Amino acid sequence: MDMSLRLPTVGQESRFQKESQVSPESRWFFEFLNLSVGSNDQSSLASIPRFSVWNKSGQNIPVFTGEFWTSRQRQGCSLHEISYRACFKPQLPRFFIERLTLPGDRVYDPFLGRGTTAIEAALLGRVPIGNDINPLSKILAYPRLRVPDMEQISRRLDLIPMNKKFQAGIDLSMFYHPRTEGEIVALKTYLNERASHGKEDDIDRWIRMVATNRLTGHSSGFFSVYTLPPNQAASQEDQKRINEKRNQTPEYRDIRKIILKKTKALMKDLTLPDIERLNSASQKALFTSRNAAKVLEVEAESVKLTVTSPPFLDIVEYSKDNWLRFWFNGIDFANISPKITMSRSAKEWASVMKDVFRDLFRVTVPGGHVAFEVGEIRKGTLKLEDLVIPAGISAGFKCLSLMVNEQRFTKTSNIWGIGNNSLGTNTNRIVIFHKEMP
Ligand SMILES: C[S@@+](CC[C@H](N)C(=O)[O-])C[C@H]1O[C@@H](n2cnc3c(N)ncnc32)[C@H](O)[C@@H]1O
Repeated sequence: MDMSLRLPTVGQESRFQKESQVSPESRWFFEFLNLSVGSNDQSSLASIPRFSVWNKSGQNIPVFTGEFWTSRQRQGCSLHEISYRACFKPQLPRFFIERLTLPGDRVYDPFLGRGTTAIEAALLGRVPIGNDINPLSKILAYPRLRVPDMEQISRRLDLIPMNKKFQAGIDLSMFYHPRTEGEIVALKTYLNERASHGKEDDIDRWIRMVATNRLTGHSSGFFSVYTLPPNQAASQEDQKRINEKRNQTPEYRDIRKIILKKTKALMKDLTLPDIERLNSASQKALFTSRNAAKVLEVEAESVKLTVTSPPFLDIVEYSKDNWLRFWFNGIDFANISPKITMSRSAKEWASVMKDVFRDLFRVTVPGGHVAFEVGEIRKGTLKLEDLVIPAGISAGFKCLSLMVNEQRFTKTSNIWGIGNNSLGTNTNRIVIFHKEMP
């Protein structure tokens, strides 16, 4: 594979090196960029990274800023298209999985969310290990490793007695037409009975995953009347206000049709070898629902790479956003909600992450890596790497670098009635750690 074309030329690299105060590390970074075990990634960079140094608490950590994913590489597989608050794009885990692991290696995410790392790892022939305190995570991730065929799903949906007279037992009239509500409750009852009798199979789990994702949203592809985007359920009161403001009442939605349509969309990019790879990954995969600070099911020194993004301080209330998804899946909101990390202060957050890093150090094989996505919060006044770098180092890791991916995208704005294309930027900040060989 010829990757030299797109990497900085020797001259450029040495100029880079001169600017560097920590040259062995920046050399490591270029080697890292050049390294691609998988064959899908051509390692082309959209720009030559800029270099700076994070210099705090006596540490000099190299910082590389640039556009690391080209637009072609940005196209993720359709199977990822499940909405979840603060999820990352599949290109992020893919970038690290391809460079830092081999097929068959274990790839872990202790804050799994919708399962982006797990699905991408499985698509690349690695073994996915995922954990999230929110049990919805497993419901959303695992079924996508065991993709049934469309016919099976369609036949199963036809078998489920959709009794349109069923009622939810809580007031959902602001979201659903009574007939839609009847169908949703019939499906919920069927799925929960199958699960409680130990009869739930891959087809049921797939239907549950898709239905959970289609409960509410802002288009006719969802069961509900127009509401917030699907990863944030409005409260009943908020929905009444939305309905009043928009002068809307819920129309009937055929949930069978919606489930099949979304199923087709999720499967759009999948090839037969993909499905086989996912299925084979599922045999060795592990999903748990624990506090990320102590996930004892994950064996010591078993993980080659962790790619993760933690809950960011007090920005997202995962349990509130998911109340309807919890209801549909019979999950006890009151039990889960207090366990989801919602640190109110940076100090509290740093202390939680310190414990998480201790467990990550335990599970990582010597020679393994952690790619930990952090954000800028409170309008950039707090950069979470300032808390994460010391937490990782104190657990025993070596911090290799902070990588800042600046993804440029075209946004269309309409000024004075004239369409105008301008460039916007999405930024990911990822701290890379290494567990050195003894
Ligand atoms: C930023 S999201 C991860 C999103 C994920 N990268 C994806 O692409 O979907 C953070 C996740 O951490 C979970 N979480 C919060 N506190 C946790 C804890 N103490 N232990 C494990 N998971 C936790 C939340 O439920 C949420 O799913």
